[in-house]
Amino acid sequence: MAWFVAAWSCLLVVVMVSSMRLSRSASSSCGSSCGGGHGGGGWGPRSYPVIGCLVAFYRNRRRLLDWYTEMLAASPSQTIVVDRLGARRTVVTANPANVEHILRARFANYPKGKPFTDVLGDLLGMGIFNVDGELWHAQRKLVSHEFSARALRDLEVTVLEAEARDRLVPALAAAAAARGGGGGVVDMQDVLRRFAFDVICRVSLGVDPGCLDPALPAPRLAAAFDTAAGIIARRGAAPVAAVWKVKRALDAGSERRLREEVGVIHEAVMGLIRSRRKERALLLVNGNGVGGARSDLLSRMIECGYPDEAIRDMVISFIMAGRDTTSSALTWFFWLLMRHRGVEAQVLDEIAATRRGRGAGEEGEGLDLDDYRRMRVLHAALCETMRLYPPVAWDSKHAAADDVLPDGTAVGRGDRVTYFQYGMGRMEAIWGADAADFSLDRWLSLPRGGGDGGAAASPAAAAFAGVSPFKYPVFQGGPRTCLGKEMAFVQMKFVASAVLRRFELRPVDEGRTPAFVPLMTAHMAGGLNVTVRRRTPAPASGGAANGTGGELTSS
Ligand code: HEM
Ligand SMILES: *[C@@H]1O[C@H](CO)[C@@H](O)[C@H](O)[C@H]1NC(C)=O
Ligand SMILES: *[C@@H]1O[C@H](CO)[C@@H](O)[C@H](O)[C@H]1NC(C)=O
Repeated sequence: MAWFVAAWSCLLVVVMVSSMRLSRSASSSCGSSCGGGHGGGGWGPRSYPVIGCLVAFYRNRRRLLDWYTEMLAASPSQTIVVDRLGARRTVVTANPANVEHILRARFANYPKGKPFTDVLGDLLGMGIFNVDGELWHAQRKLVSHEFSARALRDLEVTVLEAEARDRLVPALAAAAAARGGGGGVVDMQDVLRRFAFDVICRVSLGVDPGCLDPALPAPRLAAAFDTAAGIIARRGAAPVAAVWKVKRALDAGSERRLREEVGVIHEAVMGLIRSRRKERALLLVNGNGVGGARSDLLSRMIECGYPDEAIRDMVISFIMAGRDTTSSALTWFFWLLMRHRGVEAQVLDEIAATRRGRGAGEEGEGLDLDDYRRMRVLHAALCETMRLYPPVAWDSKHAAADDVLPDGTAVGRGDRVTYFQYGMGRMEAIWGADAADFSLDRWLSLPRGGGDGGAAASPAAAAFAGVSPFKYPVFQGGPRTCLGKEMAFVQMKFVASAVLRRFELRPVDEGRTPAFVPLMTAHMAGGLNVTVRRRTPAPASGGAANGTGGELTSS
């Protein structure tokens, strides 16, 4: 989801950066919005105008997320309006009633809008992530059907098993064996990102890029995605859109590079589509039928009869949406567990109990979707991690028509309306006085939801009954809720249990509190260097790796 995080970051940062610029040149804009109409009782009873006060932007430039959070907390209805001369008026809210209004009640009035889709269009084309209205609706219908299909869930587990057995566990085991078993250092964030890229490519394209395989060269496709997403992020951060648009028209500099990188991505995906079509034709000729041949998303789209370009754009959207989100959440999860050993112990107990219950041992991780679905403590730990460190820190829509939010904030046609996951996760008005604490109890005290319903019941629903997605919009909410949510939870639980039960991770730098950087992807600044050691005694006998050198070099 690098790119959409990027886009949101950009959009907000544009507001911020341009405010800063203005602050130095035209202090009149400050006057016009601070001093003007709002002062004398001019601001709505519940909204709190963030004034062009420019010095403040500058002073807080290194802590914009926390600064916004503080302003939202200080506003009577957790909503602020960035209303500044010469820029799009932006409403930023952390108010669950407003969020529900935007995402569900008045969904049709709050599309992503052209300012958003323009920036991302060259990479995402008409993919689900970057379209509104009927174009979006048609894809959503088709794709949500695929996402809920058993075949895709099974494929996910197969892919996760293979990726963990062949790469993740060997990589960590190799680190653990370093320095005579004293434990070597790995950047977990980097390992998790490679893992996630391999998994999302195998699930959506049906091919393995081998990102986490030290024996393979760094895949060109992953590099192309990285570079393209980076350039797109800078597009958004440019103070005036005209600049990149002119550069694009001239095919100059970064815009040229973007075109080339997008070309690499398009060529790779189109090549796959063509070869998959050939494969399918061969199967048909041989009378084997194609049923169940492959269950990756690209193959499924071909079965559904979509044209090549539409398939290409759809799978690019999946890769962008699925690649950096789970790894971001897991990075913070491992970091938080290193600081909360009691929670780590609770999670380990649950993993061991689940594995005993299943009689898991010899082959791979040995758990199925239902096992992961029932892991309530782990689910709570992941939810709590993403409350404090949401992989998508904010998300913006653009109003199609004038409107009034439930708290009374007026919205004009064309205004940007942003809901702010990061601030919401830390809002005392929502979570109570201990909002800043990492506490599983706030989740574990919720009633169990979903019962033990059929296999189709969602892992989330089975773990707890209802925390409103509008209070916790980490996966968004309403008709455009994240399609990969269940897939993401299974993946995160899988990785958490595969890693934790075998290895003990300890921070290289105990004293460090890493910075949360929402730009591009919500990543951890500087990565997460950890010392890896074998956990002793092994929590489950048999297990996967034999644990010593030989096996580790075989991948
Ligand atoms: C912890 C992991 C994840 C988080 C926090 C997350 C969060 C989100 C959020 C906030 C959105 C809404 C963005 C917007 O509309 O502007 C979204 C949309 C989406 N996500 Fe995720 N996501 C995660 C993992 C995944 C995965 C693994 C996939 C798998 C491919 C995925 C696929 C999608 C898709 C296709 C959409 C677009 C839905 C639509 O526009 O109708 N996500 N996600
Ligand atoms: C992590 O380790 C690498 C290599 O040992 C080092 O270059 C990097 O600066 C470290 N990062 C942090 C945040 O300590
Ligand atoms: C573990 O080691 C034993 C003998 O040392 C070997 O037979 C077995 O195949 C190994 N298992 C794996 C998963 O490497």
